[in-house]
Amino acid sequence: SPPLRIAVMAGDGIGQEVVPEGLRVLDAVSRRLGIALQFDHFDFASCTYYERHGQMLPDDWKERLGGHDALFFGAVGWPKTVPDHVSLWGSLLQFRRAFDQYVNLRPARLMPGVRSPLVKRDGSPYAAGEIDMLIVRENTEGEYSSIGGRMFAGTEREIVMQETVMSRLGVDRVLRYAFELARRRPRRHLTSATKSNGIAITMPFWDERVEAIAAEFPDVTRDQFHIDILTAHFVQRPQAFDVVVASNLFGDILSDLGPACCGTIGIAPSANLNPERKFPSLFEPVHGSAPDIAGKGIANPIAQIWSAALMLDFLGRRDGHDAILRGIETVLDPASGAPRTPDLGGKATTADVGRAVAECVGSLALPGR
Ligand code: NAD
Ligand code: IPM
Ligand code: MN
Repeated sequence: SPPLRIAVMAGDGIGQEVVPEGLRVLDAVSRRLGIALQFDHFDFASCTYYERHGQMLPDDWKERLGGHDALFFGAVGWPKTVPDHVSLWGSLLQFRRAFDQYVNLRPARLMPGVRSPLVKRDGSPYAAGEIDMLIVRENTEGEYSSIGGRMFAGTEREIVMQETVMSRLGVDRVLRYAFELARRRPRRHLTSATKSNGIAITMPFWDERVEAIAAEFPDVTRDQFHIDILTAHFVQRPQAFDVVVASNLFGDILSDLGPACCGTIGIAPSANLNPERKFPSLFEPVHGSAPDIAGKGIANPIAQIWSAALMLDFLGRRDGHDAILRGIETVLDPASGAPRTPDLGGKATTADVGRAVAECVGSLALPGR
């Protein structure tokens, strides 16, 4: 079969450090399992590109990226030189919209060998797998809207407005995706994040659509919480959550909180999906370009590596996904003696960890062969 064509954009900051480790592991899995991969590298969607060209993307970016099977993305943002809203609205948020990646799937799981900063009510620690949720974030509309404006700028009467936009089609499709996902998991449970007490037009609509779609999924149990108390529940009883579906902004917040409850955001992956496969989907860590540690070689590459696993899964290579996950789990297991980056209490470098995962993947026994 022809190779899977992957567009690679490392972006800024630690994106430049973790993407090569993701590629190293993809190379290993490609050799081990005979998955043909072709990588096309692009330097745009970065603030470095912006500094040279005055824009984040070339004019023909849709043509240059659109023919790929997937986009493998690092992180973008370098606020010292380009304001964040300029760099992000000029790149990542364009991809999500133009390629209709309306599902942002973000797993948060307590991995073996990683300690949650939380303890249970009786003071005991959480065991691996006890926290295991899939956050499904609406990714193309909602609070992330360019509808609005600024009036009377610089005067005492200055006014800024930004509209939240929810469409029935946009809400229904992400809810349906989340319910389908819940249906395939053992607990078959779905939690919806809302704020219909205070945000009295869009959020009651969201709740209404949850009700309506739930009727198609009688086998899925469900609850809903206002986003404020939901953040408290994440901290106090994270084990209660299975699939959590949320609007764009609420999902953004929950998908940093969930992984933090599982030890570090340095291992949290994400898949920006166009489930219909009309356009390429984008795979990237949840975290950003981390200017505070960029250039030090100490970023945890596991979020990027796990994102590569999600990419292979979406591209029909579940075996590749499983191989990478086994590699990650082996490396995270303290018994393996494998290197750990400082966010996990170790002293290792980004490349040490990438090499360790790649070695595990390369030496995996292949069941059934
Ligand atoms: P951030 O995720 O970049 O960093 C938050 C904190 O987590 C920092 O202390 C950082 O050092 C740490 N951290 C992040 N990733 C890590 C890793 N792999 N290993 C170890 N530690 C890690 O969030 P921020 O500081 O709010 O944003 C920095 C820049 O990144 C901004 O420009 C922001 O807009 C951008 N950003 C981009 C994306 C993206 O491209 N998807 C996501 C979030 C933020
Ligand atoms: C994320 C990021 C982006 C978002 C930013 C950088 C625009 O935080 O992917 O979670 O808010 O979606
Ligand atoms: Mn975020």
